[in-house]
Amino acid sequence: MQEKFYLTTAIDYVNGKPHIGHAYEKILSDVIIRHKRQLTDKAYMLTGTDEHGVKIQKTAAAKGISPIELCDENFSGFEKAWKELEISYDQIIRTTDEKHKKTVKKIFKKLLENGDIYKHSYTGLYCAGCESFLNAKDLTQDGLCPDHLKKPEEITEENYFFKLTKYKDKIAEYIKSHPDFIKPSIRVNEILNQLENIEDISVSRTKSSVQWGIEVPNDDTQTIYVWIDALSNYITAIGYDSEEPSEQFKELWPADVHVIGKDIIKFHSIYWIAILMSLGLPLPKSIFAHGWITIDQSKMSKSLGNVIAPHDVLTAFNLEKPDAFRYYMASAALSGKDGNYSDEDFKEKVNADLANNIGNLLNRTLNMLVKYFDGELKSDFISDENSKAAILASNTKTQVIECFNRFEVAEAANLIVSFADNINKYVTDSAPWTLAKEGKMLECGRVLYNVLEAMRHIAIMIYPYCPNIAENILTQLNEKADFKYTNLYWGGLKNGKITEKDKIKPVFLRLDSEFATDKKKG
Ligand code: ME8
Ligand code: MG
Repeated sequence: MQEKFYLTTAIDYVNGKPHIGHAYEKILSDVIIRHKRQLTDKAYMLTGTDEHGVKIQKTAAAKGISPIELCDENFSGFEKAWKELEISYDQIIRTTDEKHKKTVKKIFKKLLENGDIYKHSYTGLYCAGCESFLNAKDLTQDGLCPDHLKKPEEITEENYFFKLTKYKDKIAEYIKSHPDFIKPSIRVNEILNQLENIEDISVSRTKSSVQWGIEVPNDDTQTIYVWIDALSNYITAIGYDSEEPSEQFKELWPADVHVIGKDIIKFHSIYWIAILMSLGLPLPKSIFAHGWITIDQSKMSKSLGNVIAPHDVLTAFNLEKPDAFRYYMASAALSGKDGNYSDEDFKEKVNADLANNIGNLLNRTLNMLVKYFDGELKSDFISDENSKAAILASNTKTQVIECFNRFEVAEAANLIVSFADNINKYVTDSAPWTLAKEGKMLECGRVLYNVLEAMRHIAIMIYPYCPNIAENILTQLNEKADFKYTNLYWGGLKNGKITEKDKIKPVFLRLDSEFATDKKKG
């Protein structure tokens, strides 16, 4: 199980501040990478910011500051947000980094040398929001970009073009012969259709219209197209160089997954793949396109004034740790589907799953252990691996791993919670309080062992979503905070004195609970 795993996220435009849509992707990615780290020491996560292009140039101009000032300011906003959400990336790249800019020039040069780039005069409709030319047939009836609801600008320029059409058949073949390449697979036909009508793409803009970008090598009148610049981050960050790739590049490339939103699949599964083919590099193993997050069922937009920053949610609920928000976002939508955020829903979901289902189960069981056994697990309480709880635990573990292999992050969370649900039912059915009353102490102790051992499994499996709660659970169980999957075997919970009355603490406070409100007041 020591295979490497290289995950990348989309790199966010820094023309604004991070909102919970951006956060959704970074949380999903972080949950996946934390899970992979439970299985291998060689899991690596790259994230970053997309800092060039006409969109940034315009926003900066409107604010009366230089583009780099805008980038610096907003980059730090993203960095802060990811820190607060405990996004455990290994690296964060900015496309304004010198090393990145240098390598992008080399990449452009190599595409030129390969004969895949030519000069061509062109008239097209450019949407700054998409940073892309649009086809007239894709516009709304009023001639607007369907994603940004803005009128694209008609542009006539002589630009460099990339021979995308040359790779069209090869890409289609690759997609068809690799059913796991585009996830979820419902997106495959959409991409194959787009591929049918694909044309060569402009990969530069004149300096007179776009100054904020990387200059085309040996042509100071042109700026490299921002998507070529941006997509290259996945290889420049880890030391790709057309002459001598770094050791890290050799170890990590090809990416195991590019995590991106459904709006930018075309750029990843067509443009990026063609570039890699031209460079003669191996192709990524998969592209996982997540859905979109709405707020109270509407699209988030500045004009609607409903943009929520992740920090606002943590503040509104007085949360010191991001666990509840991470958990909610990671389970907000089934794989690839759209999801929704609402305050009510958030409260309800985390109270039900984290406070009641998981938190109370642990609390109740530890209290019984104190009451009946003075907080001690005796060595003959341990149950064998054929017990019902043990089988449930082992099945859940297998299914969770399978879910993650398919990037089904919410589905995996559901499995873990439903395991906790089943253990709750098991407690009700076995009624350890009745066993104690009847003096069946060994049986009672065995039930408690099963439940606490199940809790240890839950802590490890829920860790990628809720790292702090997971640690709290293990602390309550008097276990070290070690979340490797090698610890997921039945009977790992050490016996002996586990706890005492005043050591038992809730691992997660219900939102709006008395404690939580007290803290708010304080
Ligand atoms: O597209 N719900 O940047 P971006 C879910 N720079 N995901 C959302 C979302 C929402 N409401 N809003 C945005 C770009 N996203 C390019 C990417 S990659 C080489 C370059 C997702 O800031 C979006 O789908 O517009 C994308 O994956 C990411 O956030 C960044 O969006
Ligand atoms: Mg966007």
